[in-house]
Amino acid sequence: MASRATLLLVPTVAISLLLGGACALGAATPTPAKPAAAKAAGDPTRGKALYDQSCGACHGPDARGIPGLGKDLTTGAFVKGQTDAELVDFIKKGRPASDPANTTKIDMPPKGGNPALTDAQIADIVASMRTLQR
Ligand code: HEC
Repeated sequence: MASRATLLLVPTVAISLLLGGACALGAATPTPAKPAAAKAAGDPTRGKALYDQSCGACHGPDARGIPGLGKDLTTGAFVKGQTDAELVDFIKKGRPASDPANTTKIDMPPKGGNPALTDAQIADIVASMRTLQR
């Protein structure tokens, strides 16, 4: 027959194992991703929806450009030659007709004229543009 001491010991050991296990789990919980990591890579699906709202009116639904409004974004050397971060910066600033680099004498407005766009949303748009490059 088991002694009274053994009967008490078994649940005590079980509880300390449970507690120890819980502590180990707590330590292994990954720290949340830093904002910088989230900014690095855009989401092309979200980006397409944002493109349709803010850019498609001038650059066309398929980004192939609309004469007199916005350039083709699928073939231009400019887009291909920029890093994603450089393109985000470009889109934030735009390219006014007064800029010597402007090729059409038509304004590319900052953020396509939608000041509410965040850097992360513009990175999403860039990711979407990358999928369309020919
Ligand atoms: C009101 C019209 C308009 C809107 C809206 C617009 N753009 Fe533009 N965009 C232009 C024009 C015009 C140019 C060409 C400027 C030039 O002649 O150099 C241009 C140029 C660009 C270029 C450079 C292309 C190249 O080959 O030089 C990029 C990239 C671009 N736009 C991205 C965007 C994105 C992304 C959006 C949405 C956030 C957007 N544009 C919204 C009119 C627009």
